[in-house]
Amino acid sequence: MSVSVSYLPRVWMGSQISTRLLPSKIRPLSAHIKLTENCQARCISCDYWKTRWPESINTERAIHLVNECSGSGIRSLRLTGGEPLLRKDMFQVLKQAKTSSFKNIIIQTNGLLLKKLHKEVNESPITKVAVSVDGLEKTNDLIRGINGYFGLALEGIRLLRGKEVALSVTLNKISAQELGRLKEVANDVGAKIETNILSRSLFFLKDADMASMWPEGADAAEIERFVRDELKRPGYEVEYIRRYYNHEAMAEPPCVLGFLQVFVLSSGDVLTGCYPLKPVGNIMKDSLETILASEAYYIQSLAMLRRECPGCTCGVESSLAMKHAASSAVFELSQLITGQSGRKREEAMGVAPAENPSRP
Ligand SMILES: C[S@@+](CC[C@H](N)C(=O)[O-])C[C@H]1O[C@@H](n2cnc3c(N)ncnc32)[C@H](O)[C@@H]1O
Ligand code: SF4
Ligand code: SF4
Repeated sequence: MSVSVSYLPRVWMGSQISTRLLPSKIRPLSAHIKLTENCQARCISCDYWKTRWPESINTERAIHLVNECSGSGIRSLRLTGGEPLLRKDMFQVLKQAKTSSFKNIIIQTNGLLLKKLHKEVNESPITKVAVSVDGLEKTNDLIRGINGYFGLALEGIRLLRGKEVALSVTLNKISAQELGRLKEVANDVGAKIETNILSRSLFFLKDADMASMWPEGADAAEIERFVRDELKRPGYEVEYIRRYYNHEAMAEPPCVLGFLQVFVLSSGDVLTGCYPLKPVGNIMKDSLETILASEAYYIQSLAMLRRECPGCTCGVESSLAMKHAASSAVFELSQLITGQSGRKREEAMGVAPAENPSRP
């Protein structure tokens, strides 16, 4: 099933003008799947590694879930966690599921297993590898809690062929003054930089050490300069980041994530593209299609537009782009939702692509 071309314009009209103009059915463009929430890193900004999480979705259900995603018109699959590469059957799932209809299959990883598993990644239908690196070697290893993390992640990246690569950087105080040099490292390995806005309100961050990460004064100013001048992010996004880190009041945009993305946790719980709000179903009980079509899903997505929520920065770029959609933001939005950013790494570096990439 493909999603109608009027879907995004209707989400835009419905979120900005009148909810009567919203699409009658929810058809997310992107699915974020966590087959595991366990993790072997020890990041100071994240709590996942402190818990041993049960994994309810077995290989067979995972394959069926990916097929359900492709069948419901989802264009972009993001495999995240916890650490997704800890799931040993990840590549089997991708091999046996129907993945050809996805425009993007993104793996969001800490990169610690990339060197070991680069062949499997290269031979898989994964189109993009997003590796979390928060600073230069010393700083990154401090933030991520593992000596040798930076070196290992970059070694893994250098072995990738035929994939788009990004460094996912959580904007923070400890590495604020290194961002320019980190961009040079990214250029050197053919990766682009993507950023996370430091969040305090997600369920997996309750005990994380936010105080040591929160940028102020010159560090907040450097982050603003970096996203504006080096990443060339839209002005409204730069303004949001500036106000957010400086604790300034701001008008939050209607949150459109309920209409754009769906999350599946390792318990099978389904979230309406929002971590702080309650699950609206579980794929161990119902099909994804049934949950997406449920009243509970729609009602919660409407409440998200009205910002009846604790608030978070996760995916706020999409809601900002919707709000500013009269400008170049429709383009920004489609890129944000599908996680696409154009050229593959080898093209950017002038290196020949792998001989037999699973995807051109
Ligand atoms: C929770 S991790 C899961 C995937 C994988 N383990 C990784 O680190 O890439 C997803 C993303 O959230 C980022 N992150 C960690 N702590 C965060 C925080 N407090 N606020 C915003 N993003 C955060 C990570 O750096 C990573 O890019
Ligand atoms: S950010 Fe990723 S790597 Fe770090 S503890 Fe959380 S899940 Fe693990
Ligand atoms: S802004 Fe609110 S509704 Fe949107 S994802 Fe965050 S908590 Fe959920």
